[in-house]
Amino acid sequence: MLEGIQSVRDLDVDGRRVFVRVDFNVPLDGSVVTDDTRIRASIPTIQHVMERGGRPVLASHLGRPKGKPVPELSLEPAGARLAELLGCEVLLADDCIGDGPRKVVSDLRDGQVALLQNLRYHDAEEENDEAFAKELARLAEVYVNDAFGAAHRAHASVEALPRLMRVRGAGLLMEAELAALGELASGNPKRPYVAVLGGAKVSDKIGVIEALMARVDALVIGGAMANTFLAAQGRAMGKSLVEDDKLPLARSLLARAEERGMALVLPVDLVVAESLRATAGRAVPVTEVGPDDVALDIGPASVARYADVLREARSVLWNGPMGLFENPAFAAGTLGVAEAIAASSGFTVVGGGDSVAAVQQAGMADRFSHVSTGGGASLELLEGRKLPGVEALRT
Ligand code: 3PG
Repeated sequence: MLEGIQSVRDLDVDGRRVFVRVDFNVPLDGSVVTDDTRIRASIPTIQHVMERGGRPVLASHLGRPKGKPVPELSLEPAGARLAELLGCEVLLADDCIGDGPRKVVSDLRDGQVALLQNLRYHDAEEENDEAFAKELARLAEVYVNDAFGAAHRAHASVEALPRLMRVRGAGLLMEAELAALGELASGNPKRPYVAVLGGAKVSDKIGVIEALMARVDALVIGGAMANTFLAAQGRAMGKSLVEDDKLPLARSLLARAEERGMALVLPVDLVVAESLRATAGRAVPVTEVGPDDVALDIGPASVARYADVLREARSVLWNGPMGLFENPAFAAGTLGVAEAIAASSGFTVVGGGDSVAAVQQAGMADRFSHVSTGGGASLELLEGRKLPGVEALRT
């Protein structure tokens, strides 16, 4: 996966300005960064560049401002958090192209970091526009991509720009992500290899389910997407979220798993309530979901069953929560599965915004072999697709 890609470690950055594409697409509450995981994850590369005498010029998108400046999507809060974490000055440019940023980067001194304003304030970023990429290229002599979370987007700062830069490579986060996820996606993972998939919809994960079915020894399913599989087996699901149009697909995936002798593990009990806003639920066997029940988490017997499967595993991939974990009444399934994976002595990888947030909130991140900063990017990689941001780094 890293073949033909230089590492930032191999690039001569001394005395040069280094354009570092980072993924600071972080959650905000007003002007406060509520989860700084992605900012922290970029620090090793930034520090590495500075220690080697380079001057980092950071660039990122934030949200989807649709080609115009949206003050609520300014990178200022991310820059302020970065300055605290790095303990150095972070100079925020008023834009990402034009005179303002050119002045900021030409005045940049050793020990300072420049941060360009949100790339998506310009439509040209998402259009992968060559002229826009040329403007960005004027700001630095070296290009490093550390934005794994955005590597599946063929956008100008990710795709067109590196192709214009002779000296280019992968940052330390990008390398760690490709090594960990690449091991599961195209390497030779230690067996048994168990994947745990959750989240609301089967339709979001069809590609990854199909790709994983060809590789894993067991596929464990939770979250609302399990409802669709249970309904496909003929279970009554009350008022739970079920994708009726995906029932034939779920049936064919169940049949395929059986033909292949692959374990497709579904909940045996569910926590149900009358609505998403309920403050408590009750666990019922999957055979006893009432007509007014909404399934909002997997139950304790399911957690125990999943833990049994995970105990044997030597490689584990987890993507997607087991229930509506943002409501504490329905968090136990997700936290129980997180604990079972954290307790594994195998190679454990968690990806996807919600499951990573659950792991962070539970303080378990350092008990996983790798916590991915990529949501869509990690799924595309696991589906076996090439990521434009990775391909553009090859020389
Ligand atoms: C992410 O948060 O998954 C990445 O930053 C990509 O963001 P996007 O889905 O808005 O392109």
